[in-house]
Amino acid sequence: MERPPPSYCMLSFLAAYAPCNVTWRRRGRDARQWVVSAALLLAGCSGPQSALDPAGRGAERIADLFWWMAVGAAIIWLAVVSLAVYAIHLEREPHSLRGARLLIIGGGVVVPTVVLAGLLAYGLALMPDLLTPAPEGSLKIAVSGEQWWWRVRYLTSGGNDVTVELANEIRLPVGERVEFHLESPDVIHSFWIPSLGGKIDMIPGRKNRLALEPTRTGVFRGACAEFCGTSHALMSFYVVVLEKADFAAWLAHQREPARAPAEPLAMQGQELFLANGCGACHTIRGTPADGVVGPDLTHVGSRLSLGAGILPNDPEAFLRWIAHTEDVKPEVHMPAFGMLPSEELRALAVYLDKLE
Ligand code: CUA
Repeated sequence: MERPPPSYCMLSFLAAYAPCNVTWRRRGRDARQWVVSAALLLAGCSGPQSALDPAGRGAERIADLFWWMAVGAAIIWLAVVSLAVYAIHLEREPHSLRGARLLIIGGGVVVPTVVLAGLLAYGLALMPDLLTPAPEGSLKIAVSGEQWWWRVRYLTSGGNDVTVELANEIRLPVGERVEFHLESPDVIHSFWIPSLGGKIDMIPGRKNRLALEPTRTGVFRGACAEFCGTSHALMSFYVVVLEKADFAAWLAHQREPARAPAEPLAMQGQELFLANGCGACHTIRGTPADGVVGPDLTHVGSRLSLGAGILPNDPEAFLRWIAHTEDVKPEVHMPAFGMLPSEELRALAVYLDKLE
């Protein structure tokens, strides 16, 4: 499975803005340029991390609200500008305050009050749909915001026991409402998958709940939406929405322990992993490594990214991460193992990459 390309929202914005700017400077009125610009701007709203390209029920409602708010803002803007132009026309009459009164009362009070009241009513009517909890017996996933990565645990239907733990990747069945239990051991993070729904804070000492319902399959991207420290911008994750049968097969595979390495280099990597104390922080089920400080690495080679969405998942990236953790993610808790000889680093990287 491939990671989706990055969102081109900003690129499209620049591409759209450039012809507008040229048009303005030339004072030309080339409508085609505006149409192309608008099309590019709208194209930039799609992608794996866009709230305007919804793939979940909550995100669909939020996108609807965004467009109605845009319409409301356009109505207020048009009303104020029209009244201002009309008022300037009236002010030509000496000693007349009619224009000013019309602008202040009409454009400043009446139109915004009516439009905003309508939007408030529409927004409140969406709340029941957005806040509906997942039904009894639905899939439950606990996600903990760590510094700076995501601990993901699939829970039993009662929600008390962990069936599978992984990191920085969540897979979901399409068309099912899923309950997330969101928490953090130390600082506040915010859990947000824009394509699927709204965001919610992860607060130490609390367990917040969020229900999401994906409506189409695909690979989406989530992010931390609350400043949580030096590497706040370096903690994202992938969300893979699968058909129900594919999801069940994936979860069954994740429950299995790691397969023993078959080739000599990977076997050497496993020995080095255990000899260098990596197992004090990381778990690899099926080996003596059972640390709980860092991410569970049992099937790390099968994930779409390394380092919480910042590196591709290949041996080169593993090598770079192990040897230069602080350069890749400032203030990360994992120490760099750059003191190991390069052939040992390569063996470790190959071992981890093969943990699929
Ligand atoms: Cu976690 Cu920002």
